Amino acid sequence: MDSTSMFDPELYTGVFKDIGEATTLPAWCYSSQYWFNREKERVFDGAWHFVCLESSLHNGQFVRRDLLGNNILVVRDHDGEVRAFYNSCRHRGAPLTDQDTGRVKALVCPYHKWVYALNGKLIKANGLSSESRMKNACHLDLLEMTVDVVCNLVFVNFSDHPLSLREFLGDYINAVAMPHRIDRMRCIHSRSYTLESNWKLYVEVDMETLHTPCIHSHSIGKQPVEILEGIGEWVGVFNRSPHTPALKPGLRTRGFPHTQGIYGEGKNGTHFCVILPGFFIVTAQDCMWWIQKTPVSENLVAVNVGYCFPEETLQREDFDLVASLYRERWDQVVEEDDWITEYQQKGLNNKVTGLYTEQERVVQMLDQRILHKVLGPDLINMIEADTGSSISHDPDAGTRETQLSSCEG
Ligand code: FES
Ligand SMILES: [Fe+2]
Repeated sequence: MDSTSMFDPELYTGVFKDIGEATTLPAWCYSSQYWFNREKERVFDGAWHFVCLESSLHNGQFVRRDLLGNNILVVRDHDGEVRAFYNSCRHRGAPLTDQDTGRVKALVCPYHKWVYALNGKLIKANGLSSESRMKNACHLDLLEMTVDVVCNLVFVNFSDHPLSLREFLGDYINAVAMPHRIDRMRCIHSRSYTLESNWKLYVEVDMETLHTPCIHSHSIGKQPVEILEGIGEWVGVFNRSPHTPALKPGLRTRGFPHTQGIYGEGKNGTHFCVILPGFFIVTAQDCMWWIQKTPVSENLVAVNVGYCFPEETLQREDFDLVASLYRERWDQVVEEDDWITEYQQKGLNNKVTGLYTEQERVVQMLDQRILHKVLGPDLINMIEADTGSSISHDPDAGTRETQLSSCEG
């Protein structure tokens, strides 16, 4: 498939058909560098990217992440403000730190010891001895990027004129984040690594329940889910159950109490959501976890995993003992999904066209949304005219759809 004909909308009409007749994204969408470059420009560059919980940032605390080829630092400065910088010294570009997290009074470049205050101001420039040269260096403060916090979730954005974070998240805030009291969550563990797979394969596996009895036969039981299509840049499913899915089936009555102050649907079950493009976040009645995927290339994905409990749970005497049961389940399921994601990538072949089952409806919805961005609205209009179907994934279109689907998972 060459780079020009790859973006012909005719090739993708199958993704927009009814689920019984629909065909999946072609394999090149998961392996072509041209396709990936277009995704990077149209899907990722304008999106908001999750970094960490605000509650993980005490004064002077930083979190370092590699996002889309950018080495970034999110810091809480001494005035309590959360800031985001490119982790690149203004002298000759060395990173200010290679630690993933830490607490400092100032940011000191290890190379020639230039010193930056936590608000990014250059305060000492070794080698610039004369007052006038130091004066000229005052434009050499750290390069800042757009950062915003909603409901304890810290996001950054690389574009110059982004949509506001609240508009981007749409009704995720009121429908999921607030009822589950994400503001009370504290991260107890976070890790980052890379997998040899396209980023979409991991996002897709998180949102379908057909694989769970196959890949997670020893870790997750059955769980019927309702499909939710939110307003804004997210999709999700809801598992209505009084029991936490964060423990293995035989242990679910041994979980922690519900988070203080949860309300609405937050009390009635667990939301499994993807904040687009690749931030998978699960909010249960008693805990929260995430698996964020950001692409490094067409066949390499950076993964960041985080496990969280509400602050009051951390104070419990039995915390370590009971939390170890959650950790065991979380680690096992993540490892299983890591494995199948890399395994699937090895078999993709441009000559093979796939299909979606009923339990993979959300995968189809995700793929449609990605096509919407990659092909652009004009091309989507052509597909709509061709298939006679109407595609409404524009966050401004604002329709909310809830369907019941009995899935295993
Ligand atoms: S590169 Fe940072 S002080 Fe020289
Ligand atoms: Fe899975």
